[in-house]
Amino acid sequence: MLYRRVGRSGLQTSAVSLGAWATIGERLDLRGTVRLLDEAYVLGVNFFDNAETYGDGRAEELMGRALVELGWPREEFLVSSKVYWGTGGKGPTARGLSRKHVVEACDAALSRLRLDYLDLYLCHRPDPDAPIAETVQAMSDLISYHGKVLYWGTSEWSAADIFRAHEIARERNLVAPIIEQAQYNLFTRSRVEGEYADLFGRLGLGLSVWSPLAYGLLTGKYNDGFPVDARLSREGYEWLRGDLLGERSESRLEVVRRMCETAAGLEMSPAQLSILWVLANPNVSTAITGASSPRQLRETVGALGLVEQMTPALRMDIGAAFPDDLVD
Ligand SMILES: NC(=O)c1ccc[n+]([C@@H]2O[C@H](COP(=O)([O-])OP(=O)(O)OC[C@H]3O[C@@H](n4cnc5c(N)ncnc54)[C@H](OP(=O)(O)O)[C@@H]3O)[C@@H](O)[C@H]2O)c1
Repeated sequence: MLYRRVGRSGLQTSAVSLGAWATIGERLDLRGTVRLLDEAYVLGVNFFDNAETYGDGRAEELMGRALVELGWPREEFLVSSKVYWGTGGKGPTARGLSRKHVVEACDAALSRLRLDYLDLYLCHRPDPDAPIAETVQAMSDLISYHGKVLYWGTSEWSAADIFRAHEIARERNLVAPIIEQAQYNLFTRSRVEGEYADLFGRLGLGLSVWSPLAYGLLTGKYNDGFPVDARLSREGYEWLRGDLLGERSESRLEVVRRMCETAAGLEMSPAQLSILWVLANPNVSTAITGASSPRQLRETVGALGLVEQMTPALRMDIGAAFPDDLVD
């Protein structure tokens, strides 16, 4: 495993990390979750990403039970949660980034995860109905006064809002966010490479990447149809299937098929080539994959042994073939 610093902070994450969305508590029961986490730990994965909204809390609940069963030393791993969408509550106080929801959601996540503190706590989206200063203060207090969080960050915030959060933290002597979580893969590049470019150099921000394999599309598994049990074949994911392979299905699959041929020529899998492409961006602290089995995770992490094959020229060639048009 390779470990990278999260921006200019002292925190180090594994270059490949594991997310819980759509797998843990949904596709995987407790046994499956324990097996997957156990494999991750053996491979050196040290960061496990969650959110209150994943399965309306079920993902965190199951990960918490698995962590108790696995009994790893707490100093060996990082767990995140994300706040914004709530867990299904209807009222305006049950979601968003008000101090009320940020603090209550943190307590609820800790109780589901059976942990005393979160290593990372992220604002899952910007909240137009909560002042940024209120959110910065709440996050900073969770770290400085309550000891329930070690580091905080954002997800899919605009660069302007992240700069503003840092400015507020500086002015009021509060703790600033250290990490952003953004989609970044061969189909989705402009925010990370364009809008965010200054955040890394000027703020020393770290970057965790979600959907590095474009929800599985970049593994080539949909090149010839929809395999039974793959994410896009599952009930409840019709929206994602539409987003990814709706109108632009043929042109998207065509570019993936060509990338698969390149991968085969390099004697690696498309998932490995795609993750190496993401990790070759030096601003990326960690790529959070959503492997649904130990085999998938082994394959993806195996890419780290092939890292030297991703030359700048190869990276540029592969990227140039892809449209930058996947929507969130
Ligand atoms: N901050 C945000 O807004 C946000 C949004 C989305 C996700 N996330 C985080 O990012 C994590 C990863 O997102 P993601 O699940 O979309 O990541 P991903 O790794 O791009 O896609 C995961 C899908 O790819 C397939 N897969 C993974 N490795 C494979 C391999 N080696 N071979 C074949 N298929 C493979 C799995 O498919 P099958 O289902 O077919 O097995 C899985 O469903 C989430 O769990 C979550 O923690 C954050």
